[in-house]
Amino acid sequence: MKSLCVIAGDGIGPEVVPVAVDALERLLPGLRTCEADAGWGCFERMGTSVPQATLDLMKDCGAGIFGAVSSPSHAVAGYRSAILTLRQALALNCNLRPVRSWPVISPQPNIDMLILRENSEGLYVGRERMDGEGRALAERQITRRASEQLAQRTAEVAALRNARRITLVHKANVLPLTCGLFRDSARQVLAQAGWDARVDERLVDVAALQLVASPEQFDLIATTNLFGDILSDLACHWSGGLGTAPSLNWGDGIALAEPVHGSAPDIAGTGRANPLAALLSAALLLRYHWQLPSLADQLEVAVSDFLKDAGTVDFADRTTRVIADGVLARLG
Ligand code: NAI
Ligand code: MG
Repeated sequence: MKSLCVIAGDGIGPEVVPVAVDALERLLPGLRTCEADAGWGCFERMGTSVPQATLDLMKDCGAGIFGAVSSPSHAVAGYRSAILTLRQALALNCNLRPVRSWPVISPQPNIDMLILRENSEGLYVGRERMDGEGRALAERQITRRASEQLAQRTAEVAALRNARRITLVHKANVLPLTCGLFRDSARQVLAQAGWDARVDERLVDVAALQLVASPEQFDLIATTNLFGDILSDLACHWSGGLGTAPSLNWGDGIALAEPVHGSAPDIAGTGRANPLAALLSAALLLRYHWQLPSLADQLEVAVSDFLKDAGTVDFADRTTRVIADGVLARLG
């Protein structure tokens, strides 16, 4: 029997996550779910943004769905971002971020790309310091091991979707040691897996331009943590914006589905939160972690059919409910 750890978090997290859980329960009768705490509200109550009990539950379940958490944009003693802690503590080393055209809400058809973002290191290792002379410094860590792991995942996903192209995105002209190690390690693994002829490279600035100017040229993109974070938010414009952008934090035998958006404090409590990103994140859990592609297809087709029939996603203060009801009804 499959188990799911449900971490709703802050803001709109508790509004969109139950919709995704409902969809999974319909597709997987008998799914066992348990709730766990994390985020800013949790930090205020318990003095930690991710209690040990949450990590233990995630390990027990092997799969989870995470809503969003709020983070202050200034340093707070003892506080560390919950999602960064979860990714590192559970070795969720790869972040899958698909971007595809949907009926009605996408500005352009025929876009279908998947960004694989390294999820454990880069500039997000959290080693920032002041040197006492008016200088703030941040360390960027790139390891051969993490780069190879990401490339291994990229090869697996490439095989699943018979990829026409794998684009490695980096900035090795300016950062030859860190980006060079990423690029060379990834190239080696992809060559060993037989993808040599379909691998190409882009510098991150050119990749950003091309993601705007000709997004349909991309298939798989593999890149480092910060670049992947920024490029995937940029690219999700093509799927219909942040409210529709799903992701999967993916480790060995463990995965955490996560809508790309944050806690959206500006709309929390108004009923306007779009649950599509959470629903489509659940589909990623089905497709890649549980390896149930036909159930993932069923969920994505339900989303697509709903959008075609509805003609919009703006239902004012009933957005969450209207979309949830519309998609769930199509799951039978
Ligand atoms: P955000 O993603 O929360 O919101 C950006 C804009 O998109 C807002 O106008 C919001 O209303 C809209 N939006 C986001 N999700 C939506 C949805 N499902 N439906 C409709 N509209 C949606 O990013 P922002 O405002 O930069 O950050 C707010 C808080 O969230 C901060 O505390 C930040 O640290 C946190 N955050 C957390 C993330 C996570 O949990 N992984 C990721 C990004 C931000
Ligand atoms: Mg982001």
